[in-house]
Amino acid sequence: MRTGVWLVGARGSVATTSVVGGLALRAGLTAPTGCVTELPDLRGPALPGFADLVFGGHDVVATPLTKRAEALAAAGVLPARLADAVAPDLAAVEAALRPAPTEGGQGERIAAVVRDLTEFRTRHGLDRVVVVNVAATEPAPAPHPAHSDLAALRDALTGPADVLPPSSGYAYAAFTAGCPYVDFTPSTGARLPALAALAAERELPYAGHDGKTGETLLKSVLAPMFAMRHLAVRSWSGTNLLGGGDGATLADPAANAAKVGSKQRVLAETLGYLPQGHTRIEYVEELGDFKTAWDLVTFAGFLGTGMRMEFTWHGCDSALAAPLVLDLARLTAAAHAAGRHGPLTELAFFFKDPLGATGHALGEQWTVLREFAAGLHARVTP
Ligand SMILES: NC(=O)c1ccc[n+]([C@@H]2O[C@H](COP(=O)([O-])OP(=O)(O)OC[C@H]3O[C@@H](n4cnc5c(N)ncnc54)[C@H](O)[C@@H]3O)[C@@H](O)[C@H]2O)c1
Repeated sequence: MRTGVWLVGARGSVATTSVVGGLALRAGLTAPTGCVTELPDLRGPALPGFADLVFGGHDVVATPLTKRAEALAAAGVLPARLADAVAPDLAAVEAALRPAPTEGGQGERIAAVVRDLTEFRTRHGLDRVVVVNVAATEPAPAPHPAHSDLAALRDALTGPADVLPPSSGYAYAAFTAGCPYVDFTPSTGARLPALAALAAERELPYAGHDGKTGETLLKSVLAPMFAMRHLAVRSWSGTNLLGGGDGATLADPAANAAKVGSKQRVLAETLGYLPQGHTRIEYVEELGDFKTAWDLVTFAGFLGTGMRMEFTWHGCDSALAAPLVLDLARLTAAAHAAGRHGPLTELAFFFKDPLGATGHALGEQWTVLREFAAGLHARVTP
């Protein structure tokens, strides 16, 4: 199953690490550590192989992918020997990247994205193309009546004003081109009723939101533990220090608010109440792509005895995110091939703020994911 992976934000850290990783896996140069679709519970014939993945994408900047890969290697995000070894393949991916359209109104820019996606699918003889948003986090958009009605949205897109944030413009283009859409960011993406209607009309699946790779991953393991032991969490405060492009974007208060919102939801929904405390994100340029999260949790046990736990997480964000981008592309492609459409709630395991999902506990999400993958494989096993 030849599968296109179209990365929005294709020259960013997560995208570049995903492409270098995908090419290195295809060449057998590295082990699939961190790719959950390579675990025995999820692996199987329904998923496209790494050799079946063809990369392309859009970005607003033109920095060559080889330069981005060199910079990530220099920063210790990926091994320099791998960046060197895949350099010829990286040049082929470079040829498939397109500048984010800038000419005309939003309707015309979306039409240009649709043309790029269609041309990519045809040129490479792909069975399908999964669009994955890994672009810089956007602030939440101002509400607009066209967001909740597809006919009104189609009409509004013929006018001169932008009605959709860029992530939703890409979702609109993906669905129009017949492509499933995955949002790895906290941006709005496909999370608008008008876009859900478009996906339903085109019978396409979509997934999101916001990859779960660090502090929130730990919360989704630890919060259920407190809940299951009937311990009362009094406060949960976290400080995240990060650099890199994502850190710089999140220095903007509006983008920061979008991210912090998706990080706290897991506590309220898992515990059934919101303990005191906040999650903070601070940009420290020096840290580059390596993130430190410090969390302090205070809780009460039997007879009200107060206790506390603290943890420190030092993660390389792009190295944690990239294998999940590959997993999501493979699973979403398989779901599309199986005729699934609408929100893929079974992929909640991957997200901080999962679409339409009922729970945030990692263990339960894992069970749902395993059954989902088993169903996909059973369909193609003779
Ligand atoms: N790394 C992780 O662990 C992790 C986890 C969850 C979510 N995310 C999200 O993934 C996204 C990417 O993170 P990153 O570290 O690669 O950031 P980055 O800043 O390195 O890359 C973002 C890329 O998006 C491009 N871009 C911005 N606006 C665009 C547009 N309108 N169209 C096309 N491209 C555009 C930028 O030019 C840049 O190349 C962020 O939104 C981040 O919040 C990352």
